[in-house]
Amino acid sequence: MISVTINGKPHQLDVDPETPILWVVREQFQLTGTKFGCGIAQCGACTVHLDGAPIRSCSTPIAAAEGTTITTIEGLADDDGTLSAVQQSWIEAQVPQCGYCQSGQIMSAAALLRDTPNPSDDDIDAAMSGNVCRCGTYPQIRKAIKAAAAR
Ligand code: FES
Ligand code: FES
Repeated sequence: MISVTINGKPHQLDVDPETPILWVVREQFQLTGTKFGCGIAQCGACTVHLDGAPIRSCSTPIAAAEGTTITTIEGLADDDGTLSAVQQSWIEAQVPQCGYCQSGQIMSAAALLRDTPNPSDDDIDAAMSGNVCRCGTYPQIRKAIKAAAAR
């Protein structure tokens, strides 16, 4: 059994410890906001938080989450549905194009802003460099992160 908290709720999981976190959240919990992109830790589409830190859920086994808290894009808003500053800024900046990479982008941005409330361009580049967007939304991502920081 794996003991893990997912989006604020504790669970005991009877699952192969090597199962990637991505498949646990998507298939067992139907939290499908987290996307499968490359599957080899190269694109960031699958980014979730493990105790607040961004990780690649496609290549992190659920065993690594024992005793921790996983937060997915579905858990970023408040319990009453109020969106986080990052999510609100993302909407206002109209960041997404196809949208496929965007959950991962938002999770990386949220982790950046938690640790660095007023990030410089270099901070943003460093924190977001592992999140690929084939639609090229990088300028809007930067704009949304700066707007969220200003909130
Ligand atoms: S799907 Fe996990 S990094 Fe690409
Ligand atoms: S919005 Fe299409 S891949 Fe990023």
